[in-house]
Amino acid sequence: MSNPASPPAVDVLDERPGLTFPPAFLWGAATAAYQIEGAAAEGARTPSIWDTFSHTEGRVVNGHTGDVACDHYHRLRDDVALMAELGLKSYRFSVSWPRVQPGGSGAANPQGLDFYSRLVDELLAHDIEPWLTLYHWDLPQELEDAGGWPSRDTAARFADYTTLVADALGDRVRYWTTLNEPWCSAFLGYGSGVHAPGRSNGADAVRAGHHLMLGHGLAVQALRAARPTAEVGVTVNLYPVDPASDAPADIDAARRIDGLANRFFLDPLLRGSYPADLVADLRTVTDFDHVRDGDLATIATPLDVVGINYYSRHVVAAPVEAAEPEPSWREPSCWPGSEDVRFVSRGFPVTDMDWEIDAPGLVETLRRVHEEYTDLPLYVTENGSAFVDTVVDGQVDDVDRLAYFDAHLRACHEAIDAGVPLRGYFAWSLMDNFEWAWGYTKRFGMIHVDYDSQLRIPKSSARWYASVIRRNGLAA
Ligand code: NOJ
Repeated sequence: MSNPASPPAVDVLDERPGLTFPPAFLWGAATAAYQIEGAAAEGARTPSIWDTFSHTEGRVVNGHTGDVACDHYHRLRDDVALMAELGLKSYRFSVSWPRVQPGGSGAANPQGLDFYSRLVDELLAHDIEPWLTLYHWDLPQELEDAGGWPSRDTAARFADYTTLVADALGDRVRYWTTLNEPWCSAFLGYGSGVHAPGRSNGADAVRAGHHLMLGHGLAVQALRAARPTAEVGVTVNLYPVDPASDAPADIDAARRIDGLANRFFLDPLLRGSYPADLVADLRTVTDFDHVRDGDLATIATPLDVVGINYYSRHVVAAPVEAAEPEPSWREPSCWPGSEDVRFVSRGFPVTDMDWEIDAPGLVETLRRVHEEYTDLPLYVTENGSAFVDTVVDGQVDDVDRLAYFDAHLRACHEAIDAGVPLRGYFAWSLMDNFEWAWGYTKRFGMIHVDYDSQLRIPKSSARWYASVIRRNGLAA
């Protein structure tokens, strides 16, 4: 790894016990295609909704786009070499749908498949298990023009695309994730409109959520047909949702937000039904006439693993008169039928995203999924933090990020001790990248990226994570 002479910044971890993880625990790091690849117009790739959105004035901070990003498309070998220096056991990446199937329909694009084929081969050559996500938010623009995720046909298109990828890479890729964070695709993309495609309609958000899950179910079936030995899962972003007080109205607000944030997805995917209280809460928004017979059985097609992305906790309260509107994911339009619920800050330390740091929430989340929903193996497919980094003498000493990882890995260990079959953890992110509506202004990486020179500098957190992987645990 670069800068081997610098000492790992482990001093912030004094007086904490050493912890060992189970054998074969899968240590990884994650990225996503649009956030790192660049080469937006190369290799016959066509635009996705994120190309259109980021090129629309006022949508992304500073007008940033993913046109170049981390230029990973041209730096694949060097980037995999960095992963190998970190000692990663697995690398979670996503395939860009419009790179592999330009326009979102028809035959596969050999140039697009070739890029991912080379990536997979390079990973395997370094003993790094590829963990492939099929949809990390980059819907081909043509499919959005035809109605996007609120339209049922998009689910069928997704299954066709899945077959193309499975046929090309299924001989070497064992782990498959259909969707990444469908809540964001549906509720940020079609509810609040702070993410691509930037539409704002509660009923469309609910329809999008359903069709994303339908597409997931069809994709699982397509994967099973193409590759019977594939290990297939989905990644959901989950939050514990607490009431701000014991007042019945606050408790009800928490129930409603938990319904929209968590149970909207967990219940159909893992139980084959929508929660009755959620359907009732949404009655002013939609009558669910987009749900057809058989959909929920398709959505609940059995899985092999469940992926969980965890960042923070929601604390909510009942409405008060003249509540202040909030930005981004707190935007009332993200929460159709519950627009009046207030999100409350507890004054905890926050990351640069203004998300409160709450490692115990990860234990709760993992236990909840295991105890209430499934015995399947669980993976933390994302966890991490943005902080402002400074490069001093060619080094980035990101003690805050390192402490965040440490606290959340301790939470993982606690969940395992409590009986959760947690089999792996992927740090978000391998490297700084395009943070969606925030552009390049938020840095989540363990590897610093200078976007002018594309120089990569492993931060202290990267060196520390390498030592965690080496010892399969945390030092005392
Ligand atoms: C969730 C998303 O999957 C990822 O793309 C994003 O960058 C991180 N969380 C941080 O917001």
